[in-house]
Amino acid sequence: MPNLSQLLTTKAKPEHLRLFNACKDLHSQLADIDNIYVCGGYVRDLILDNQTEDIDLCIEGNSKKFSTMLSERLNLGKPHESQFLTFKFVGGKGKDNVKSIDIVTCRDETYPTPASLPDVIPSSIDKDLNRRDFTVNAMAISLTDQHWGDLIDPSNGFGDIMRKRIRVLHDASFIDDPTRVFRAVRYATRLGFNIDTHTTELITNAIGNVDLLSGTRVRHEFEHILKEPKVCEMLRKAEDLGLLGAITPALRVGPKALEITSDLLKESSGDLQLEDLLARVTFGLNTDEAKLTSSRFDGPKSWTDSISGNAKLASVVGILDNPTITRSEIADVLDDIPLQCIRAYIATGSTLPRRGRLIDYLQTIRFEGPEITGEDLMAAGVPEGPIIGQLLELVKRARLDRKVNSKKEEMDLARSRLPEFLTHDEDA
Ligand code: CTP
Repeated sequence: MPNLSQLLTTKAKPEHLRLFNACKDLHSQLADIDNIYVCGGYVRDLILDNQTEDIDLCIEGNSKKFSTMLSERLNLGKPHESQFLTFKFVGGKGKDNVKSIDIVTCRDETYPTPASLPDVIPSSIDKDLNRRDFTVNAMAISLTDQHWGDLIDPSNGFGDIMRKRIRVLHDASFIDDPTRVFRAVRYATRLGFNIDTHTTELITNAIGNVDLLSGTRVRHEFEHILKEPKVCEMLRKAEDLGLLGAITPALRVGPKALEITSDLLKESSGDLQLEDLLARVTFGLNTDEAKLTSSRFDGPKSWTDSISGNAKLASVVGILDNPTITRSEIADVLDDIPLQCIRAYIATGSTLPRRGRLIDYLQTIRFEGPEITGEDLMAAGVPEGPIIGQLLELVKRARLDRKVNSKKEEMDLARSRLPEFLTHDEDA
């Protein structure tokens, strides 16, 4: 069994090493903790010398007691306890804090039906590693005094890291849990690995099971992809594997969508909004495709708006090329379009007059409104009721079209038009 204590000492961040040493001490003090391991992505990234912040600890034994003791010792606060003896500490921003620690009880899983959530029972580290998605994620390092640094690697994940290979542990893996197809795409692209031939065949055979996943689970996995720095490569890989079509046949990510997504990533300084990413990766879907895609994701309004707003904009954007269009008419066209879709359209680099108008809308028009308020109008004797809103709308349009340029001119306009509004009101 290889021993990675050298790697732990030289590559783990000081705050991580402090945590691991605290685990070692606690193990020697607590009789009902058989073993403590750091496992999964942390081990993979340690071997690859990649920076990682999230630490998963696997406990054989009383993980609740261990979490309490660890918290007292490192002053971690109260953990968030979730189902099946899982405890999460989210650290502060300071450089000496571990950002996120998950403490889980070693477990075994069975899937009652394909794509369902698994049944879970406490178990050993070997069983825990064997239930996992890919060999590169199925390794653990012992943190006890007697076995400090021992690598537990029942499926030769270390060898697969050396061969740069994503490989599943067993043939039913994607059938049990089709979210692993998304994960295969993510790891292969993020790490620059290949998905091994047999694993690719298993994906092809199980791809139809993606259909069994709920909208929430599909959305969650898609969102993980969107948040990765190599999102465009991942989407291309997802397309190649038939994953996008398996989410819904309506979903495709065309070359323009990839181009403007890639531009967004290049321009951003780490402050990307999910809505912008969504609007860009779904750019080019027609109304029906957008409708089917949003309904498959079954997401909040921000998802539906971002996905369907592009087609909505495409159906009206031509009006903006009219040379005589006024600023208030531009607002009429664009007020119902999600801003992220307007930004996506601008990013396509269109050279038509519409581009300038879209930019004008984003930068100025949408912020402009009357200086006068409903209260000003009432103080001037306008009766309370819908007339107030109608007059304010009229003034807003005049302001946008630069027909009035001051509060006084706005009020004069409202006063001059009041009689006809009162007549309309009486007629109604
Ligand atoms: N896992 C799994 N099947 C899933 C989800 C997770 O087998 N559908 C296992 C993986 O082995 C993974 C571990 O649970 O290592 C923790 O999952 P997660 O936190 O999503 O992944 P990390 O390994 O921490 O990797 P990263 O956060 O870097 O993606």
